[in-house]
Amino acid sequence: MKPLSKTLQTMPGYGIPLVLDKAVNVSECIRLEAGEPNYVTPKYICDAAARAMEEGYTKYTPLLGYASVREAIARDNSEKVGRRIDLSEVIVTTGATMALHNALRAVAEEGDEVLLPDPCWPAYKMQLHSLGLKAVPYLMDEKNGMMPTREGIESLITPKTSVIIVNSPSNPTGAVFDEATIRMMIDLAVQYDLYVISDEIYDFLTYDGVKALSFKRFDPDGRVIMIGGASKKYAMPGWRIGFAIAQPEIVQLMGRVMTTYGMNTCCIAQKAYEAAITGPQDFVRESVESYRDRRDTTLAICREANVPVFSPQGAFYLWIDISASGMSADRFAEVLFERHLVGVAPGPAFGASGEGKIRVSIATEKEALCRGVRWICELVNENR
Ligand SMILES: Cc1ncc(COP(=O)(O)O)c(C=O)c1O
Repeated sequence: MKPLSKTLQTMPGYGIPLVLDKAVNVSECIRLEAGEPNYVTPKYICDAAARAMEEGYTKYTPLLGYASVREAIARDNSEKVGRRIDLSEVIVTTGATMALHNALRAVAEEGDEVLLPDPCWPAYKMQLHSLGLKAVPYLMDEKNGMMPTREGIESLITPKTSVIIVNSPSNPTGAVFDEATIRMMIDLAVQYDLYVISDEIYDFLTYDGVKALSFKRFDPDGRVIMIGGASKKYAMPGWRIGFAIAQPEIVQLMGRVMTTYGMNTCCIAQKAYEAAITGPQDFVRESVESYRDRRDTTLAICREANVPVFSPQGAFYLWIDISASGMSADRFAEVLFERHLVGVAPGPAFGASGEGKIRVSIATEKEALCRGVRWICELVNENR
């Protein structure tokens, strides 16, 4: 037989499943590796989905999504973007994942170089690889509050660079880009004529009065593509619903590529998301408050044990420095699971700067989470 796709066979792995694969088979294990809310989707959203089915929302939808859903997304994000958003700027997608993929398809050409954060969500690298784009990581500099520096980015730009991916609040660090950093990056994008793909899926979840500013707010000329979704905010990861806000020409191209795979986003999920964003927001308020409580409690456990950890200003992760254990991050994750049945994501899955780090998801029931974090601290300190 002819060989199978080399592109896919050489695609980088997700990096987290090592523990995840084992974890799903053991019921008593503490799952701190998965970036998934520990809630079920609120009832008012499920009810809306059931109603949509009864009302006949079961057919193909327009490629860009139902107009009512796009309008709701436009209204929901206008304050953040700082102006009215037009329907023509919105596309509904099968999760933020598809929005990212389609955005890359729309603005980059095979062989282009794409700047992306290090550390970052591993799927970016996989998408770039599968699209024949070259991943060029820029450092989220710990010495600079986990922000990139102008020199750090500028030194990586070549004539082949066409896109910069940004993610604030960040997975895995929880860093939230301040206004000066956003302006600096937009400035670079204009100077070197780059598109900016801004993954803002955690924008609802910030702490200590910090606000997650949208890159789209500072978009001077339609070069920013803002991406968001329902998975984290409304505990809807399985519904596969996301969106992008971009200039109409980009939106049209993102829609065109949908015809080649998947067609439209699921009709029922679209109506459920419309209900989510137009309905009462108590669930979001309450879950944010609960994540804050879990963040504070787990940070305190790490600090008491003298285990270095970045204090996240957003998202639901702790980026813990385990280097004092003397183990590599991969080995640490393995030993932690073997001894204590605690699953964590090893830092190198997120980029080269992740060696010596692990990512812990605090989107886990509090008592088990605290137990898991105590085991982590104990393992770090065991060989000091
Ligand atoms: C930064 C980031 N972007 C996108 C996604 C995926 O979002 P969706 O479920 O909407 O595809 C994740 C999921 O972990 C994520 O962490």
